Amino acid sequence: MQEIKFFSGENIPLELHKTRIVQKLHLVPIERRLEALYEGGFNTFRLTTKDVFLDMLTDSGTNAMSDEQLSAMMRADDAYAGSQSFMRLQKAVEDVLGKKYYLPVHQGRAAENILAKAYVKSGSLIPMNYHFTTSMAHITEHGGKIVELLYDEAYVINSEHPFKGNMNIEKLEEIIRLNTPKNIPFIRMEASTNLIGGQPFSVKNLRDVRALADKYGIRLVLDASLLGENAYLVLKREEEFKNSSLGEIIKTMTDLADIVYFSARKLSSSRGGGICTNDIGIYREMEALIPLYEGFLTYGGISVREIESMAVGLYETLDETVICQSPNYIEYLVNALDKKGVPVIKPAGVLGAHIDAMQICSHIPQSQYPAGSLAAALYLISGIRGMERGSVSNQRDEYGNETYADMELVRLAIPRRVFTLSQIKYVEDRVHWLYLNRELVGGLKFVYEPPVLRFFMGGLEPINDWPQKLMAKFKEDFGDSL
Ligand SMILES: Cc1ncc(COP(=O)(O)O)c(C=O)c1O
Repeated sequence: MQEIKFFSGENIPLELHKTRIVQKLHLVPIERRLEALYEGGFNTFRLTTKDVFLDMLTDSGTNAMSDEQLSAMMRADDAYAGSQSFMRLQKAVEDVLGKKYYLPVHQGRAAENILAKAYVKSGSLIPMNYHFTTSMAHITEHGGKIVELLYDEAYVINSEHPFKGNMNIEKLEEIIRLNTPKNIPFIRMEASTNLIGGQPFSVKNLRDVRALADKYGIRLVLDASLLGENAYLVLKREEEFKNSSLGEIIKTMTDLADIVYFSARKLSSSRGGGICTNDIGIYREMEALIPLYEGFLTYGGISVREIESMAVGLYETLDETVICQSPNYIEYLVNALDKKGVPVIKPAGVLGAHIDAMQICSHIPQSQYPAGSLAAALYLISGIRGMERGSVSNQRDEYGNETYADMELVRLAIPRRVFTLSQIKYVEDRVHWLYLNRELVGGLKFVYEPPVLRFFMGGLEPINDWPQKLMAKFKEDFGDSL
């Protein structure tokens, strides 16, 4: 894609789309935001959108849909079995991801459940570049364990490494030898490694993983939920691919995996998900699980309308003007925050800007959840809803002890083609103010802790009256501004 330069020399991510359907937003007063925090247990998942101004919780199911997707939904062929809509989706999966056999599931974690049911048992070990919350939960639920094998650079916040999501190849071989290949049903590679700041891996690294998988006869599974964006950063950062199309890069990556699975809430901007492969044996190992847990094999729990929008969305993943929009906005925000001294994960990745709560709230011990506290504080002073990606999002170990996260991040997701640049500037402004007033942010403690995936519905409360003090300072500085 050709770059569009501004005469002023400013680096502005220009939108190559226009807005035709809009949704009204609400920026409620700070007093109401404080109440909403108490009602929602200081957990941004538990806020309702009536109280949220900029919803930066996630890009999952929140990317803007295109006119082509919406119109495709109108021609949905409602049939329990053999729907033409499904045939169109199957073709899109083959055209875009290069896999002949496709098993539909209702969303990404359903694919993880099916994979775990088919391959994970007590004693299984799954090496991965890094875990995602639901992928790890399904593996441990089925008696398996995971091991994360990133290079040290992945954990460096202020880095210039282009591929922090790369698998540590030397460690991978060591782990395979130590545990013997028979206990390793598959190696999992996650495109644009979500929990370490949306950081990509290179195609070279994936080829190296493939070589080890071949050497030891282990399946390679690719979590392709953020594959389009990983491919976009390969295009930008990996010399070999600088003249390739997104489609060529995507196919190069999927060709290297035995199994590709994805959440269509991200890849394709719709709903649903899938598992695909070119190996009929692998397909057969999972086939019977789909009608049991998801729905018949030609819908898998996805509505037929959404099957149509998925098919169109998959083809749109090949369009650089669609895929570049979120990474370019993220880069803009990351650079702006970095210039103001706010510690933020660098280089800019995909999915969102990731603010380093470990540094910003260095006065809050991990046992009081600095990232959860900062996410709550940001909502309080701005109405911006981010997501805690730190120790609250971790699960306790088998003995019930806390496992503190490697990073304490507040993720500000930037879904594709949703926000305007002035809204991004508002985010920059409020995060900067909060950074300057960071000493006023205090810790949290759990008052309700679900045993699995506690971050979704868990309830916390502040350890003292820091929210009231932060609100008072906001009012002092902003007067009657919302
Ligand atoms: C990398 C990755 N894998 C899997 C999932 C799970 O997908 P879903 O939310 O559709 O269940 C997600 C969701 O955010 C994800 O980011």
